[in-house]
Amino acid sequence: MSRSRSASGDRMLRVAVIGLGPIGNLHAAFYQADELAALVGVCDRLPERARAAGERLGVPWFTSAAKMLAQLAPEVVSVATGGFEYASDHYEPTLQALEAGCHVLCEKPICNDIEKAAQMVRVARERRRCFGINFNHRFTPAARLARRWVEEGRLGSLLFVNMALWIGRPGDFDSPYFHLKALNPHSVDMIRYYCGEISQVQCFAMKAPGRETLWSTASINLRLANGMVGHLLSSYDIERGHPMERCEVAGVAGRFVLEDMWREVTLYPAGDPVKSVYTNPVFGGYGGFDDTFRERIHCFLAQVAAGVAPEEIDGSGADGLAAQRVIAAGIESLETGQVVTVESG
Ligand SMILES: NC(=O)c1ccc[n+]([C@@H]2O[C@H](COP(=O)([O-])OP(=O)(O)OC[C@H]3O[C@@H](n4cnc5c(N)ncnc54)[C@H](O)[C@@H]3O)[C@@H](O)[C@H]2O)c1
Repeated sequence: MSRSRSASGDRMLRVAVIGLGPIGNLHAAFYQADELAALVGVCDRLPERARAAGERLGVPWFTSAAKMLAQLAPEVVSVATGGFEYASDHYEPTLQALEAGCHVLCEKPICNDIEKAAQMVRVARERRRCFGINFNHRFTPAARLARRWVEEGRLGSLLFVNMALWIGRPGDFDSPYFHLKALNPHSVDMIRYYCGEISQVQCFAMKAPGRETLWSTASINLRLANGMVGHLLSSYDIERGHPMERCEVAGVAGRFVLEDMWREVTLYPAGDPVKSVYTNPVFGGYGGFDDTFRERIHCFLAQVAAGVAPEEIDGSGADGLAAQRVIAAGIESLETGQVVTVESG
């Protein structure tokens, strides 16, 4: 039987994880380590994955989400399934969990189908459940500090944003848009986090040597609702081992550059050669990318535990839907050669 109170006396939320690939296993490990959570069960359609995780974590394991939800009645569920375009399997278990009364933290992309994504957001809203997306990139101390600089006006009136995210994902893909849909939710979310809504998109893309199907490197011009201009570079063609993300936002009073979401962020005040740098601490800092999940998961638990209104959830389902709409506009631009207006709502 899992405990219901942490060592410090906080009530622990009963949590379950659906989907036990590498990412679901990461979620489960961080829930188990979090004092706000009691991991009560795990589920994967594949019995070998479900059993391995259940035995390792010491919790009951299931191959049916419906059965687990009915039997364990968790309060919080992580949906870390994948599927076509790394997202088609999010829809069904998210709706099952919401309809069972759970708060849901779903992996990105929210869904590869915009209509279904909109339905997921609608059902969460109607049921007054908290629905978050794992936009782990925005939850690091460095990313938070950059946001504070924007809110404090340290950048002044905003002018431009340059966002780039590149990883190595060799091999063939069953969708030409896998990279655009699966990688860019993070980048679009970071842009929206600092700069607000994106209104228009113009996308160019290439298939790198050896790629048959996949648009694997893309260059996307952006116009934002507040008048800013921006650029997003994304690629599946650069091997790991070096930095993978860079976010630069500039205004009339200053500019910041955030390297690798957690590693370092620098504020360059306009006209002042003295800059401010936050560097990931050696002791107590992040050891690597996986640590970005810890803070995001803790934030979701803390917001649910505090009874935060569903519309106040940081990195929400609505943010996930907005990101996919920007990506859909990019894909339409790539196909038509036109500048495309992002659907709002
Ligand atoms: N936030 C990040 O930084 C980050 C990084 C990588 C991947 N991801 C996302 O994490 C998700 C999972 O990635 P992965 O590499 O672990 O995927 P994966 O395909 O290895 O694992 C997904 C698992 O979900 C199971 N599954 C699918 N539908 C199910 C259902 N209805 N009920 C029970 N189990 C079901 C599958 O059997 C599979 O074992 C993807 O959506 C991906 O986009 C996020």
